[in-house]
Amino acid sequence: MLNCTPAAVVINIPRRIIYALSYYVPSLGRIIAWGFGSRETTNYTYDLSDDSLFYLMHTIAVVTGAELDVVRGYIAEARTDTKLRETVIGAIRDSKFRYLSDARCEFGRRLGWYAFVRILKPRVVVETGVDKGHGAILLCAALLRNRTDGAGGIYFGTDINPEAGWLLRPPYSEVGSILVGDSIESLSRLTQNIDLFINDSDHSADYEYREYRTVAEKLSDRAVVLGDNSHVTPMLAKFAAECGMQFLHFREIPRDHWYPGCGIGIAFNRAKSSHRTEAHRIA
Ligand SMILES: C[S@@+](CC[C@H](N)C(=O)[O-])C[C@H]1O[C@@H](n2cnc3c(N)ncnc32)[C@H](O)[C@@H]1O
Repeated sequence: MLNCTPAAVVINIPRRIIYALSYYVPSLGRIIAWGFGSRETTNYTYDLSDDSLFYLMHTIAVVTGAELDVVRGYIAEARTDTKLRETVIGAIRDSKFRYLSDARCEFGRRLGWYAFVRILKPRVVVETGVDKGHGAILLCAALLRNRTDGAGGIYFGTDINPEAGWLLRPPYSEVGSILVGDSIESLSRLTQNIDLFINDSDHSADYEYREYRTVAEKLSDRAVVLGDNSHVTPMLAKFAAECGMQFLHFREIPRDHWYPGCGIGIAFNRAKSSHRTEAHRIA
């Protein structure tokens, strides 16, 4: 029987704390295992849980109007791409950054970026903030597959660090290049219309918003904008509201990792998404 007396306030304290801790204690074990087993210091790599992958597929199906099985197929394509995996692991093993990286190939939420490229067939993809180049090589892998399907496209990454993008190797670098310098300055100089824009550079809210405003006039009619910072700031949601675009946020769940995960903010125009998907089916 429940204790409903004033004493319950005190009696329940340890029970409540133990219950709350049960949500976090598994992460403590993962933190220790990761501390000794991994070399990564930033931009951690991990796979997604099965549920998270399933939610990601549904999210992309809602945004693009593509069939769930089509999205599933593209995500499986990226996850089972042996050549891509070998290129990433080979680049890590050869790199001077190998003591700050794990020789593995896991893309987490970026698998969603891949599926967007495969479905939307963008002519120009821009990712701000390249770091090692996990997004860069994966996005270029999708563009190369699109090229095989008859749809050309190119990738621009921006990074203030001249050493960024060392994972982006041939043949993937055939369709991608990195613009070194401040992202907003590089975006201002870009002359192409952008079909898929991914924000992942300076993660302050102000900088993130300024990136969206800088590309606003360069976004094509069918553009989709993805934010890698939408679990931290509502700037992409704000930008979408100002532009009359729809907005969704997918939250990733890393598999067996202490990191709580990021997300994918998605600004899109539903009507144009459906139209695009029709064009994709015809193609
Ligand atoms: C989170 S990492 C990018 C991760 C990458 N998108 C990926 O998929 O792995 C952020 C990157 O933004 C770069 N960066 C930070 N401020 C920047 C700025 N003002 N302009 C361009 N790049 C910037 C950093 O050098 C860093 O490499």
